[in-house]
Amino acid sequence: MLRIDVLTLFPRMLDGFLAESMLGRGIERGLLEVKTHDLRAWTLDKHRTADDRPFGGGAGMVLKPEPVFAALEQLQSPGCRRIYLTPDGIPLSPAVAQELSRQQHLVMLSGHYEGIDQRIREGMIDQEISIGDYVLTNGTIAAAVLIDALSRFIPGVLGEEKSLTHESFTGKLLDFPQYTRPAEFRGMSVPDVLLSGNHAEIEKWRHDRAMEKTRQNRPDLLK
Ligand code: ADE
Repeated sequence: MLRIDVLTLFPRMLDGFLAESMLGRGIERGLLEVKTHDLRAWTLDKHRTADDRPFGGGAGMVLKPEPVFAALEQLQSPGCRRIYLTPDGIPLSPAVAQELSRQQHLVMLSGHYEGIDQRIREGMIDQEISIGDYVLTNGTIAAAVLIDALSRFIPGVLGEEKSLTHESFTGKLLDFPQYTRPAEFRGMSVPDVLLSGNHAEIEKWRHDRAMEKTRQNRPDLLK
């Protein structure tokens, strides 16, 4: 079973997220285990200081090495993967998520403020991951995104195994449109072909719509 430890200044940000939906059910059913840890528990002074001003000057604060080293030394295990969530990391992709889903133990560090002391990255981090080219105020949300994305690759977390294969990015096309009952709603009808029972026609229609959608929204995927 995959175990994930998340080290963050805002552990409560993850509580609701981990309790809900597919992920909550996966944890409840023992398919994975996620524990959050408050970085301030490893600070040594009475003000519980986790950050300090950058050497060389500049705006913002930098996460200090001492509490992070102490925390990661306690949380890590032999062979675990230590991940730092940061906008300057390698981009998260389905391949990255799937590879991580096959590990035994992940330890995630979510950054905050303007950065972290470089010695943490060099001494305690195996992999730096970005969830996209935008900057969040807090890497804890990025850790939540990563956990969610990789949990979908753990057998049993998604109800139907099948729902993985037909999705955006696992092939090279975006999704085709879906409809459910009623067949007519406020004057808008479901395309006839989907009601026809002709599976070859339905497959072709879905493929054509997926191509059209991909050309419109993500032409880069077709190159
Ligand atoms: N922390 C802040 N922004 C982030 C991003 N885009 N990806 C990962 N961690 C982050």
